Amino acid sequence: MSVNVMFVCLGNICRSPTAHGLFAARVEQAGLSGHIQVRSGGTGGWHVGNPPDERSVRVALERGIDLSHLRASQVSSRDFQSCDYMLAMDAANLADLRRMAPPAYPGVLDLFLTFAADSGYREVPDPYYGGEDGFQLVVDLIEAASDGLLQHIRRHQLGQG
Ligand code: 4NP
Repeated sequence: MSVNVMFVCLGNICRSPTAHGLFAARVEQAGLSGHIQVRSGGTGGWHVGNPPDERSVRVALERGIDLSHLRASQVSSRDFQSCDYMLAMDAANLADLRRMAPPAYPGVLDLFLTFAADSGYREVPDPYYGGEDGFQLVVDLIEAASDGLLQHIRRHQLGQG
């Protein structure tokens, strides 16, 4: 049994690579790397092939997560065929994904922060044009939602707890 998770934002250089690296580290720590595959993409293609934004890399590294090996890609309708969870950072990303999704997509297509019910946020705000605070908030929200998502997958996909 293998579960495929894809995180999606606009550029795939700030929010979704942070989610990708941080959630993959949580999966690894839980000993579930053989069961859960993680990837990320952007709805836009401007940064394809680029490493994550250096501000995201730095803030993630402060929490012990290395994002420097990741490279940006653009999400495509093919990703729906292989992913069980398509998780958007904000409502615009979710609307774009809904337009690309096959009519009877059987997976979970939703905002990532549905897995961080107590965070007080619905969306992960785009930090690109802002300051350091925005990048710290991105990691805080992603940490909270990653814990919720891992718990959800364990229970609903892997039959644990
Ligand atoms: P992300 O942030 O969607 O979290 O990767 C952005 C990155 C780049 C741009 C916008 C948002 N941009 O306009 O290039």
